[in-house]
Amino acid sequence: MSYKTKRRVGARHLVLLGLLVLVVALVLPASGIGAKKSVKSESSAQACQLSVFSWWTGGGEAAGLTKLIAIWNKDNPACKFKNETVAGGAGTNAKAVLAKRLAAHKPPDSFQGHAGKELLDYIKAGQIEPIDFIYDQYGFKKVMPKTLLDQISYKGHLYSVPVNIHRANILWYNPSVLKDAGIAKAPKTWAQWIAALKKADAAGVIPLALGEQWTQKHLLETVMIGKLGPAGWAKLWTANGNWKSAGVTASLNRFKTLLTYTNSDAASLTWQDAGKLVANGDAAFNVMGDWQDGYFRGTTKGGNLAMGPGSYGWTAVPDTNGVFDWLSDSFTLPVGAPDRAAAVKWLGFLGSKKAQDTFNPVKGSIPARKDANPALYGPYLKWNLKQWKTDKLAGSLMHGVVANNAWNATIDTALGLFLQNKDVAKFQKALVAAAAKYAATN
Ligand code: GAL
Repeated sequence: MSYKTKRRVGARHLVLLGLLVLVVALVLPASGIGAKKSVKSESSAQACQLSVFSWWTGGGEAAGLTKLIAIWNKDNPACKFKNETVAGGAGTNAKAVLAKRLAAHKPPDSFQGHAGKELLDYIKAGQIEPIDFIYDQYGFKKVMPKTLLDQISYKGHLYSVPVNIHRANILWYNPSVLKDAGIAKAPKTWAQWIAALKKADAAGVIPLALGEQWTQKHLLETVMIGKLGPAGWAKLWTANGNWKSAGVTASLNRFKTLLTYTNSDAASLTWQDAGKLVANGDAAFNVMGDWQDGYFRGTTKGGNLAMGPGSYGWTAVPDTNGVFDWLSDSFTLPVGAPDRAAAVKWLGFLGSKKAQDTFNPVKGSIPARKDANPALYGPYLKWNLKQWKTDKLAGSLMHGVVANNAWNATIDTALGLFLQNKDVAKFQKALVAAAAKYAATN
């Protein structure tokens, strides 16, 4: 390069620098004091991205998330949503993937964590930040039930924003299958349930549609709550729980009996597959959480079944009438979130009435906020909004409320063996051992 060329380049650099100074001078006031802060300006000068981790890939859960993503992207054009979902109902696969990411210090900006002991695991491991400042900023403490806030607090600090409240103990059924099988009413008690299952069996349909192992654990918990009652159930998860009791034996025997009325391919079916058996009229009943309502009612465009009013029915799992086996999806602020400012904004948005009343009618859950507009919810959720106010509460095992991850995993192993050998005594012994190991630190 000749010296003349060098000088020309030098002169061009000066012009460019001048232009840059001008641009900065014009842009700065817009992002400075008094201007509405964008997530982009809060987080970094680079375009930001909001990575959110969940297991909502199907049914009403994916449809609900899609709605939230649409609002987020519209309101935050400079900070697009990155959907980091891992398929698998109840987070069975997702939680393993998440654990690896957290161990490698590669968290998303926010991840789904169930209220209760599951969340406590992340808190105790120092993987998520307290977020009291978000509650203060948006006044969330006033609009969310204390019972729920207690389940996301540790040592006086709040650690997540719940987006909903789900109910696990629902018996879904196909009214025309029941009618054809001569079952006059949906069963309310264990005895009525067995009688109905027998009738369905005689009519040649699958009496109780069942899916993969986590759905079987879900069924087991509802049966145990029915037999033990909410107080007996709650006690099991404390240091004083008596897993050797006759009540536990009777619950396990009930569960064993129920398994004789289920489809033989359960292990290979998702929760949606099992629900579809009821929807199609191949099965009479299915026990599942109320995300099933989102799947039954949701639009076919979203991969759901678009079932009309009256084409499916529901009631509390027999013997759990007046008991709400609850769980809640909440979202966190991981330590080391790549775009923390975006995550903070996301959590503020998730707790808003707009987000909750948009998401939950589609997801098949009631909002965590107390000020929801019931008119926006379908028949099942309207009913359940009332139940939440009057029912006694029981925390879900399968969905993170009553037991930490280690205890849950040990129960999974014991259940897996039981599903092979159907030996109630062995199963109970394994459950007693699991409690002895984990109850004190739960
Ligand atoms: C639960 C979760 C629900 C729903 C369900 C099935 O654990 O809380 O939101 O996703 O699993 O996947």
